[in-house]
Amino acid sequence: MNKPKRYLITSALPYANGPKHLGHLAGAYLPADIYVRYLRAKKEDVVYVCGSDEHGAAITIQAIKENTTPRAIVDKYHALLKSNMADLGISFDIYHRTSELIHHQTALEFFTALNDKGDLIQKETEQFYDEEAKSFLADRYIVGTCPVCGNENAYGDQCEKCGTSLSPDQLINPRSTLSGKPPSKKSTTHWFLPLDKHEGFLREWILNQHKDDWKANVLGQCKSWMDLGLQPRAVTRDLDWGVPLPANVEGGKGKVLYVWFDAPIGYISATRQWAIDNNKDWKPYWHDKDTKLVHFIGKDNIVFHAIIFPVMLKLHGNILPDNVPSNEFMNLEGDKMSTSRGWSIEMDDYINDFVKKENGGDMMVDALRYYLTQIAPETKDSEFTWRGFQDAVNSELVSIFGNYVNRTFVLMHKLCKGKVPPLHETLLDDADKKIFVDILETKYKIESLLETYKFRDALYEVIDLARKGNKYMQDKQPWILAKTLDANPDNQKLIDNCLHICLQLTANLAVLINPFLPFTSKKMCYMHKVVDKMLDWENAGKPKLLSVGYSLRAPELLFRKIEDEEVKQQVEKLNNKKMAMENAALKPADEKDAVIAPVKSQIQFDDFSKIDLKVATIISATKVEKADKLLKLEVDLGFEKRTIVSGIAMHFAPEEIVGKQVVVVANLAPRKMRGIESNGMILMAEDKSGKLHFVSPQTMIDAGSNVS
Ligand code: MF3
Ligand code: ZN
Repeated sequence: MNKPKRYLITSALPYANGPKHLGHLAGAYLPADIYVRYLRAKKEDVVYVCGSDEHGAAITIQAIKENTTPRAIVDKYHALLKSNMADLGISFDIYHRTSELIHHQTALEFFTALNDKGDLIQKETEQFYDEEAKSFLADRYIVGTCPVCGNENAYGDQCEKCGTSLSPDQLINPRSTLSGKPPSKKSTTHWFLPLDKHEGFLREWILNQHKDDWKANVLGQCKSWMDLGLQPRAVTRDLDWGVPLPANVEGGKGKVLYVWFDAPIGYISATRQWAIDNNKDWKPYWHDKDTKLVHFIGKDNIVFHAIIFPVMLKLHGNILPDNVPSNEFMNLEGDKMSTSRGWSIEMDDYINDFVKKENGGDMMVDALRYYLTQIAPETKDSEFTWRGFQDAVNSELVSIFGNYVNRTFVLMHKLCKGKVPPLHETLLDDADKKIFVDILETKYKIESLLETYKFRDALYEVIDLARKGNKYMQDKQPWILAKTLDANPDNQKLIDNCLHICLQLTANLAVLINPFLPFTSKKMCYMHKVVDKMLDWENAGKPKLLSVGYSLRAPELLFRKIEDEEVKQQVEKLNNKKMAMENAALKPADEKDAVIAPVKSQIQFDDFSKIDLKVATIISATKVEKADKLLKLEVDLGFEKRTIVSGIAMHFAPEEIVGKQVVVVANLAPRKMRGIESNGMILMAEDKSGKLHFVSPQTMIDAGSNVS
């Protein structure tokens, strides 16, 4: 597009159903914030909107879990998310919420406009229904096996394991989360957005017009979704939590807008609220073709932002997004990040452990922003490790960036009386001049990287410039020149040149790092005794940001090292949290999605009679080395003793099972496990919490007794 007149930047509205983790932060919030801070530094007209997504089953299911109302849930988590984001420096112009009246009005106006134009169709459909709970089941209330990856707990709208968007009909073995039973079907009338009618437009707009500027992961997902065939998509639901359809819409009683219809309209209502608060006109942001609209999202939101919402916007006469930069997922210490499984670092936890606890905790915000940007899952899934965090902070932020700034300030105080020394032009050599070229080149590189959403690479350029600064200073060695000043008073000029250049570089670094690490830049402004205005992007690349003779403050600590002990504590905390979750999951069976495994295909009596089952007594049990799950058992079968290796070590301690009787498959062909030959198999029953139980006679009987 031509140079935009204004920018509207959005980050996906997080569900106000719980705390959000660092993967969310890295996916949709931090990159958008960097982009927005860059645009603001360039003095662009930019509005950055976000807010809590407060409707949908994500909320009502959480309310059931916490035994409270949806209202209480959204109030609690909206407040948490809002304050977490602010603490981490995410600089929304407004953080709104979809339960606000203005949002309900905006969403209904939108729906009504489309409905009146005939852009929506009404259809009677069969919907999943829970007879026991007497309730229609919205997508999220149905779980089942994902047809793509086999995850047994995929939701009706999406598999969280592989990210595929689903409809409930695609699930294998669907079951209701309300009663745990397979749902029935019942007919109901709903409004649909006929996506199939817009395939031509979508293919042209996405796969042709945006083939070069949208990310490959976004184009790929859109294409495969379209190739599967676009279907009319229901935009209403039989629920009592959401944006209710207006009374004057026939057949609308008891129905609300589907959360994925109302939530993206939240971007519009947030803009409207922002405009009211700031005495601005919101309309150009959503109607004027000169506006550049960019949606930052995670990969599970792609089709909603690249296909469905754009169709809605087009029908409604709004502008379309210019880009939908989407990130892949960020894993954690070798496993998928997931709040519900306890394998996650919540933003709130990081804030409590690192930011609020320390004086100057702001530096720990920037430390996190640094690491998350450096490992951003821009093109493929990435991984957060506490060790990696420590390495990035200690060996890059502290040792390269922080160290460079610190040395420059210390030497300037020592060798140049605490003032910006003069530049003696005639004495400049190639290395001196090269630094100015490097600064300018870095600025241009960062610009083009940020403008194409390559935040990781852009950040690398800033650090690389600091690295060049370190090398320059190391080569010049002004501290050595200082030792020979008595003999060579002219050396002061060389010292002056070196530190003048180093200081102009630190000032430039403050400008360049500002979008990424805003707290650091602020502190650097303080040290340089300049107002924040210096951080305007037009100053980047300038060789004379600081005036000669200007006296500067003492250096301040920009970053601190992460200690081994902290890494250890965090890893322990993570493991403990996961264990606590697992234990909790073992206890109340009623909360769990109990599934009874389907019955296997029929066999004949002859098949069964081939299996020789006998009662055996366990005589000894020992752990198998380097195999967490295995126990080596000696069992007495009456006529002989045998070794059986069994995968039950996670469930039973060896000493507690000696003397117990079990049923074994006595004629199973021998199998080697961890080098031990196992002769037979022990029968076990697994309850719905996953706990194992021996299958054994009610009282002690002779070893070797037949079971049939
Ligand atoms: N709440 C959704 C999620 O967390 C995202 C909504 S984005 C919006 O996946 F566009 F609908 F707002
Ligand atoms: Zn899946």
